[in-house]
Amino acid sequence: MGYPQIRMRRLRENKLLRKMLSESTLELRNLIYPLFVIEGEKIKEEISSMPGIFRFSLDYLIKEAKEIADAGIPAVILFGIPKIKDELGTQAYAPSGIIQKTLKKLKKEVPDLFLITDICLCEYTSHGHCGIVEGGKIKNDSTLELLAKTAMSHAQAGADMLAPSDMMDGRIKIIRKTLDQNSFENLPILSYASKFASAFYGPFREAADSTPKFGDRKSYQMNPANSKEALREVLLDIEEGADLIMVKPALAYLDIIQKIRNLIQHPLAAYNVSGEYSLVKAAAKKGWIDEKKMILEILTGIKRAGADLIITYHAKEVAKWKEKLTLF
Ligand code: PBG
Repeated sequence: MGYPQIRMRRLRENKLLRKMLSESTLELRNLIYPLFVIEGEKIKEEISSMPGIFRFSLDYLIKEAKEIADAGIPAVILFGIPKIKDELGTQAYAPSGIIQKTLKKLKKEVPDLFLITDICLCEYTSHGHCGIVEGGKIKNDSTLELLAKTAMSHAQAGADMLAPSDMMDGRIKIIRKTLDQNSFENLPILSYASKFASAFYGPFREAADSTPKFGDRKSYQMNPANSKEALREVLLDIEEGADLIMVKPALAYLDIIQKIRNLIQHPLAAYNVSGEYSLVKAAAKKGWIDEKKMILEILTGIKRAGADLIITYHAKEVAKWKEKLTLF
C-alpha cells in the first residue's frame, strides 16, 4: 500500500461533505450588539476609532434599535454616556439617568429586543475608574453599594439581564442579594468574570469617554499573562450567583474561553471587544484583507473555542449576510 495510508483530504474534497462535517456554526441568534447612548437630541456621531459604530441620543437610538430587532439580532448591551460625571458616578444609579431612561423607552418601543446593561461606574465617574477613589486607590467595598444601587435601578427600569463589568470583589453576591430582596429573583446576571486589563479596550474608551484620568485598571482587571486566576474568578462568581459567565477580550484569550468551557456547564459569553473590531476595520479600509471572510473566521473561532454567546460590533454586518455565515 502506498503512502500516505490515511488521507485527511478525503473528508475535504467534496463541498457537501465539508458542509455536513462542519463542527461550529455561527448563528445570528447568539449575537449581542453593543449600543452607546448619549444625552441630548438628534445626535448620531461616529466613533472615529470604530468606523460604523455610533453614539446615539435616545430619540435616534430607538430607530436604530428597531432596525437591529428587525434584522434578527436578538439582544443589545447598553452603555450610557452621561452629561455630568462626578466622583461617585451618581448618574449610574440616578432614576432619570441615561440608561434608566433608555431602558424604559426601549422596553415600550422595541419590545422584541432583549436588553442587557453593563453595570460599571467608569462611564459615570469624573476620574474614569470603575470604583470609588480614595487617596489614589480604588476602594472595593464602598464601590459595591453603588454597583448594587445601579443594578437595582436598571432592574426597575426594565433591563432583561445585568452584566457587571467592574471587577470589584464580591459584586455578584451583593447584586444577587439586592435583586432577590426586591422581587427580581428571576433577573439573570451575566458576569464579566474573566476580564483582563487589556489594550484592546482603547477604542471603547473613546466611545464611552471613560479613559482613567490617572493610573490604570491593573488593580482590578486581570493580568493578561494569567489563566489560573481567570478560572478562580469564574468559580467565585458562580458561587456568588452568576448565571452566565463572560470572557473579555476574546481573541487573545481563546485559551481562557476553552478552559472555562471545560470547567463549567454555565452558558459562556465572549466579548469581541472594540480594539478587535478596529483592527479589522483599519485593515479592511486599506484593502489588506477580505473583511467578510475575516469577520466570519474570527466569530466562528470564538464559537469553536467554546463561547455560546458573542458580544460583537460586527453583529449588524453579520445580520446582513443572512444565511451565508459559513466558511466551508
Ligand atoms: C466598562 C467596560 C469596558 C468595556 C466594556 N465594559 C471598558 C473598560 O473596562 O475599560 C470594553 C468593551 C470594548 O472594548 O469593546 N468597564
